[in-house]
Amino acid sequence: MIERITRLLEEAEHLQATNTEELEALRLKYLSKKGILSQLMADFRQVPAEQKREVGLLANKAKDALTERFNVLKAQLAVAEEDHSGLDLTRTPYPIHLGTRHPLSIVKQEIVNIFQHMGFSLADGPEVEDDWHVFGSMNFADDHPARDMQDTFFIESHPDVLLRTHTSSVQSRVMEQSQPPIRVICPGRVYRNEAISARAHCFFHQVEGLYIDRNVSFTDLKQVLLTFAREMFGADTRIRLRPSYFPFTEPSAEMDISCNICGGEGCAFCKQTGWVEILGCGMVDPNVLEANGIDSSIYSGYAFGMGIERITNLKYQVKDLRMFSENDVRFLEEFMAAN
Ligand code: DAH
Repeated sequence: MIERITRLLEEAEHLQATNTEELEALRLKYLSKKGILSQLMADFRQVPAEQKREVGLLANKAKDALTERFNVLKAQLAVAEEDHSGLDLTRTPYPIHLGTRHPLSIVKQEIVNIFQHMGFSLADGPEVEDDWHVFGSMNFADDHPARDMQDTFFIESHPDVLLRTHTSSVQSRVMEQSQPPIRVICPGRVYRNEAISARAHCFFHQVEGLYIDRNVSFTDLKQVLLTFAREMFGADTRIRLRPSYFPFTEPSAEMDISCNICGGEGCAFCKQTGWVEILGCGMVDPNVLEANGIDSSIYSGYAFGMGIERITNLKYQVKDLRMFSENDVRFLEEFMAAN
């Protein structure tokens, strides 16, 4: 009996079928009710009890081997018999559609790279924040309009919980965890309660910068921003700082760059002025340093914040902010080359 099964096992390995008739013949011979396998199982009853285990195992193996071989042959035949007559093997293949990085990701990375080369490291904080990190620690007076329901998304059941309206909250997160020298760049998403239009959105992206050490001056700020502007928009780019107001900086400024679309000549984009605003900045207000545990009699610092959508618009002239979040493949594919 054992010999019979061993032979069958060997046979199983070498079975061949070149067409369906041959395959059917194999099935009848080995696997059908009257086939060799059934016969084998019938004879199994006569095997002496002490050999049953060994023979049984072997018989099962033979059954598996035959069934598997049959299935392999069947699959091979199915492929071989497919109709390839209409197939043009000389045709070029369909192009493979690779995804692209999102334009905002491309530009964010570019901004981060520039500052990392100047020694800034990355930091981030939560998008769902509390009043202290977004406003309180940033020197916003209790009645500052930015806290207003008009601008800020609050969580109804938890008045202290809100969606951050700017990445300046990360400044506070970093300061409370470390002492100067601090030199960080913080990209992230921010939220404001605005009606969505071509020029405003309820969420957008910012990059915050913060530098705190002994003897940091406005000159340092200006030089870093000039370097950034030239790296980002080209070596001919000029900058101009206009006095401004932010609760967390004193003095504060807004920075314009010479319009990179008309080169400063004046065009529709820069409203004929030759300049476009790209960021807010200033010397960190001593109140902010103190509120976050840093001794303002020893340390000073600068900070700046810019919108990534704004920088992207300038680089790629995207006219409608909504394009950034609509995931229209035709729009996204335009950035293939920038990847
Ligand atoms: N947080 C400001 C905003 O959302 C941007 C900003 C301005 C950030 C001046 C700063 C800064 O760090 O110094 O409009």
